[in-house]
Amino acid sequence: MCGIVAVIGSREAAPLLLEGLRQLEYRGYDSAGVATVDAFEDGPGGLLTCQRAKGKLANLCELVDREGSLGQLGIGHTRWATHGKPEIHNAHPHRDECGSVAVVQNGIIENHRFLREQLELKGIPFASETDTEVIPHLIGEELKVLQSNGDLPSGSMLLDAVRKVALKLKGAYALAVIWAETPDALVVTRWQAPLLIGLGEGEFLCASDTPALAGFTRTILPMEDGEIALLTPLGIELYNKDGVRQQRNPSLLTGSNHVVNKRHFRHFMLKEIHEQPETAQLWVSRHLPLGLPVEAPVALPFEDSFYEGIERIEILACGTSRHAAMVGAYLLEQFSGIPTAVFYASEFRYAAPPLAANTLTIGVTQSGETADTLAALAMEAERRRAHGDPAFASRQLGVTNRPESSLGRQVDHILDIGSGIEIGVAATKTFLGQLLAFYALALKFASLRKSRSILEITTLTNELRDIPNQLRRLIQKHDQLSENLATRFSDTQDVIFLGRGINYPIALEGALKLKEISYIHAEGYPAGEMKHGPIALLERRVPVIAIAMPGRVFEKVLSNAQEAKARDAKLIGVAPEGPEAEVFDVLMPLPEVSEWTSPLLSVIPMQLLSYHIAFQRGLDIDQPRNLAKSVTVE
Ligand code: G6P
Repeated sequence: MCGIVAVIGSREAAPLLLEGLRQLEYRGYDSAGVATVDAFEDGPGGLLTCQRAKGKLANLCELVDREGSLGQLGIGHTRWATHGKPEIHNAHPHRDECGSVAVVQNGIIENHRFLREQLELKGIPFASETDTEVIPHLIGEELKVLQSNGDLPSGSMLLDAVRKVALKLKGAYALAVIWAETPDALVVTRWQAPLLIGLGEGEFLCASDTPALAGFTRTILPMEDGEIALLTPLGIELYNKDGVRQQRNPSLLTGSNHVVNKRHFRHFMLKEIHEQPETAQLWVSRHLPLGLPVEAPVALPFEDSFYEGIERIEILACGTSRHAAMVGAYLLEQFSGIPTAVFYASEFRYAAPPLAANTLTIGVTQSGETADTLAALAMEAERRRAHGDPAFASRQLGVTNRPESSLGRQVDHILDIGSGIEIGVAATKTFLGQLLAFYALALKFASLRKSRSILEITTLTNELRDIPNQLRRLIQKHDQLSENLATRFSDTQDVIFLGRGINYPIALEGALKLKEISYIHAEGYPAGEMKHGPIALLERRVPVIAIAMPGRVFEKVLSNAQEAKARDAKLIGVAPEGPEAEVFDVLMPLPEVSEWTSPLLSVIPMQLLSYHIAFQRGLDIDQPRNLAKSVTVE
């Protein structure tokens, strides 16, 4: 949520800032802004210029093109509005009263009201409704005090001022600060919001996420909570929260996970839907390699001791990740026999269940940065530490597409879904990656606990090995089918998705995808629940999309679909071809696979249909209104 970039070096900062912001736009696109300091040639200090524009980054780029922006030091921001509407006066960077300190922030300053009142009592005028604006004012005040001792402005002085101000802030934040008096100093700090430093030759870039750094350098230094750094063209001074200087080796960004490119597709979302066979193929080669014993066919990066004694699993997640977790819970319970519960991370934080012994807690977040998921995991680890009894000790696994994220640094074990970077705000290939991660875990637990016969384990393994091919064929076929079907939805206002058992979460995911990118109201229900209320909504203008895959609830879903049809609803089936499918007005045919693997395929028509409906409606598919890919605020 919100992306920040900052740069200091020997090149003009603005082009680097704008390019960095372009890579971070998935984090928010309500407004964008940059501030630069152009050093005076004939004396100390420089000229601080701030440019901000409402809406997409393109508006800011136009402004910078038109007006120019000089200086080799700068900060930039792309905003997802929390405090204050998406207007220019609320866009970052924010400045102090005399306009010489500029700040960009990602996060939320929870005590901003109190701080603002104190500043206002001193007569300091505010220009925005944001929580962030207190920061430049507070830094400006600190700098005045420090300068009153007669010391000359310096990077160390700015560092000192930011450190003092950070102590007053409550909440989660990542900050980058510049000061007109010190064109050779950039100060950055973070607390529970991501911030990475990229090390170039004699120049440094900071950003909320790796794609903003990858085009600039592959050598990175992720900052830890509470750390603060002074960056100059000559080097980095990094301090921990106690003020102790840190010496840490940077790491190298590897792989293509940091490169953002739409290829020949119209949208990132469509490209990412089409990349799913590749995601699955990679997963098969990593986790189901041939040659492993039939009774234990899964390769996972954990020691056997990791699985020992686990009697219960609790999964914390938000949004699409939570839907993947629900399929995961079904597999872990029904296939592997382990009691498993899924929680909204945001609810768990404030209403966690009583502690259970021998529990594995799994956090699922593709970005690895979702504030609620991270905080819920941290809270759970703390509760378990405080308990003291080893049976209640914290054991945490993170399932993520970004092992280098905050989640990666927070939990004991990480399962990297390796889906490749996803830019479309509506998650597609990372959802598939998360589902596959749960298949691997379910197979592993089933083989260790012997809850399934070797035949059952082998059958599921073989089916999973065939999923990449199935996906390839399905996506080809359904792209066109969904495009045709989408034309009928152009003025639909409500859609109901039905599913049962392992496909109930897919009904939820179908509804979420449609809401997210087409702004059509949609709800997913367990098909059997429809008659307890939702059926009242049904009429001719409300399409019902029913996922009916052969298995233990096949006939049940078909009956529920009949009930909908009897109320005049237009019935769309996501089901295999055959006489049973005649109940549907329109069929989106799926191959006949087992119930276990069906979610991996049934989700494809959901994704493609949402995509094509949103396209027909002329909407901004990759950057839907009000959403952001990575929600780093509570
Ligand atoms: C946001 C995104 C969703 C995503 C959710 C959880 O709401 O718009 O697409 O499912 O965050 O994100 P995570 O990174 O934790 O999977």
